[in-house]
Amino acid sequence: MTNKPFGVSIPLDAKVHPEIARIAIEERVPIVHTSVGDPRAYTQRSKAAGMKVLHTAFCVRHALVAEAAGVDAVIASGVDGGGMLSSMGLTTMALVPQVVDAVKIPVIAGGGIADARGIAACFALGAEGVVMGTRFMATQECPVHPRVKEAIVKAKDTDTAVVGRAAAGISLRALKSPFVETALELMQTMDKEKMANFLHGGGQIYRGLIEGDMENNPALCGLSCGLISDIPEAAQVIERLVEEFAKVVMGMPKSL
Ligand SMILES: Cc1cc2nc3c(=O)[nH]c(=O)nc-3n(C[C@H](O)[C@H](O)[C@H](O)COP(=O)(O)O)c2cc1C
Repeated sequence: MTNKPFGVSIPLDAKVHPEIARIAIEERVPIVHTSVGDPRAYTQRSKAAGMKVLHTAFCVRHALVAEAAGVDAVIASGVDGGGMLSSMGLTTMALVPQVVDAVKIPVIAGGGIADARGIAACFALGAEGVVMGTRFMATQECPVHPRVKEAIVKAKDTDTAVVGRAAAGISLRALKSPFVETALELMQTMDKEKMANFLHGGGQIYRGLIEGDMENNPALCGLSCGLISDIPEAAQVIERLVEEFAKVVMGMPKSL
């Protein structure tokens, strides 16, 4: 499909993660990214195969464990982001500089970044790179359903909610919907395992995002949806970010 370098994400809570990791390591994919689990799982094997390893940390302790496991860089991911979040509630603004202070390896910031201002802010916090998920969902190439892309464009700052925080151990940030309303109610009483099953135990994320049934499934989306107002090509997003980043940085001294 491409002769350009690419990475593979390995969510360590997914049942198929050993299979994903086996193929990624066999094929010597240049970069692997692990999350929601023990960073020791595949780090040494991947590094022995000459690959770079990134791991997502939701708190300083996660970052220190990942650094000790030998990962090349850590992604400090705040609850501002879309998708799976930790139940600890650390925001990008608070988490990134604390991780930067704690580890010696490069830190990549994630959660709530959708434009050049967010990138500049994260660089000011000490990050050396950023991860952007929600912004790239609303692009032509992204395989999510057009209904989801349109909903992101329409969404304003208050249109997402975090479900699962109390009961599930892991939380999801998704666009508000009847499904999310039900999940918020069930969170009060449902036990951890049932809640996790209710949220993503059997294809719900696929049905919400790819099939576009957002009423009955979670449509994962971050807080930055309020900053997104179009569905360009991914390359246009990158071009804009590069162009705007220079303007943001040049404009900084004037606004001090
Ligand atoms: C639809 C969607 C799916 C995601 N899936 C994963 C995943 O499988 N593994 C993971 O570590 N992070 C996942 N994330 C989180 C992203 O890697 C990233 O940390 C997050 O999107 C950054 O925040 P932002 O959405 O505000 O840009 C997902 C995010 C979204 C929006």
